[in-house]
Amino acid sequence: MKKSNILLIGFMGVGKGSLARELARTTDFFVLDSDDLIESSENRKIKKIFKEDGEAYFRSLELKVANWLENHVTQTIISTGGGFFAVENLNNIGTVVFLESDFDSVLNKIMNHPKAAKKIKKRPLFQDKVKAKELFDQRQPLYAAKADITIQTAAKTLQEIAVEIREKIGI
Ligand code: S3P
Repeated sequence: MKKSNILLIGFMGVGKGSLARELARTTDFFVLDSDDLIESSENRKIKKIFKEDGEAYFRSLELKVANWLENHVTQTIISTGGGFFAVENLNNIGTVVFLESDFDSVLNKIMNHPKAAKKIKKRPLFQDKVKAKELFDQRQPLYAAKADITIQTAAKTLQEIAVEIREKIGI
């Protein structure tokens, strides 16, 4: 049987964290975020982890988080870092919801945010827009392949997306 968690996957800046909080506000689920779990247990920011120990080390921490989530967490909305989808046991953790968008919408959302500079600065893989677009294109089919449910998010409000997810999952 599928675990009762809901995992939100998708590209950086698509709104996984905000949506997780919106879903928590309107259901009896709690919320966890894979990046927050990594930062709190390492006691340093993602940016610093990438800088000091490299991406491969960060990915190994994601695997550790994924194993812990599978074995210990239920009834939780889990927002994930943009590369977390690659963990082998992703689909054992819960129902996987892919938040789909197009690159320009993601970029506009980040750029129009009042804290745009901070949002970009904290994401090592979003420093170069051309490289970020390449990563985006490369990952879209990979996200879709892991998804139980795919939700189009461009041009929709947080509330509209949350309603759609709740209806599709039945929570
Ligand atoms: C990453 C996305 C980030 C964070 C890390 C790597 C990625 O999370 O996990 O910087 O590989 O796409 P967000 O998707 O929350 O920005």
